[in-house]
Amino acid sequence: MTQIVGIIQVKGGVGRSTIATNLAAVFSLKKPTALIDCDLPQGTSASWYAVRKSEVPPTNLTLATVRDYRELITRVRELSHEHRYIIIDAPPRIAEMTRAITIMSSLSLVPLGASAAEIWSTADLVQTIDEARRLRPDIDVRIVWNRFRSYTREAVDLSEAARKELGLKELATRLGYRVAYSEALARGLSVDEWLDKAAHAEILALAAEVKGILKEKGK
Ligand SMILES: Nc1ncnc2c1ncn2[C@@H]1O[C@H](COP(=O)(O)OP(=O)(O)OP(=O)(O)O)[C@@H](O)[C@H]1O
Ligand SMILES: [Mg+2]
Repeated sequence: MTQIVGIIQVKGGVGRSTIATNLAAVFSLKKPTALIDCDLPQGTSASWYAVRKSEVPPTNLTLATVRDYRELITRVRELSHEHRYIIIDAPPRIAEMTRAITIMSSLSLVPLGASAAEIWSTADLVQTIDEARRLRPDIDVRIVWNRFRSYTREAVDLSEAARKELGLKELATRLGYRVAYSEALARGLSVDEWLDKAAHAEILALAAEVKGILKEKGK
């Protein structure tokens, strides 16, 4: 059965493409995986994939781009025949697309930085998630903390406040602020392929945690 993971957020620049590309690259090491870039014309995941093709040997990774939610539904249906995982890089601020992604996904991840501005702007997303939940009550949406500075009191306080305020579950794995994420993205790589031990460990932990959640659902 194909498992779909959506990476959603209304705010831009929070790490959707970083998480989508890294998860897609790591998942494709074991199983055929498709990465769908819905954030056009920007197309960060699509650009990453184009650079990747010239950098590393072809793997089990397919890229698709879609412009609206109808096209997304069609592509997901087609890709699910031959892919074990589909990772969807969502656009910011298009509620219709975000709702469709949330409904189609086995798990949706919401990248969030522990800053007041990011947390405030995520309140809009919670409304879209609530609408999706009315159509499909068992949707699973979880925060993934990105650029997290575990050593600052502010980050810890804000993450606790956000958990309560947004009413979303969160992943245990948190991604730190590391230059490896932007360097790997620019070179079409995952941080697993980039020589940064800390980022490498974080992404493998994230992939393992996500797979664990998906496995539970597949039972
Ligand atoms: N944990 C991190 N540490 C350092 N840099 C990061 C981290 N996560 C993301 N970045 C960088 O922040 C920028 C924005 O990240 P990314 O493109 O993944 O976000 P996005 O939500 O997809 O943004 P957009 O709205 O532009 O699509 C990129 O340059 C990325 O390399
Ligand atoms: Mg992006």
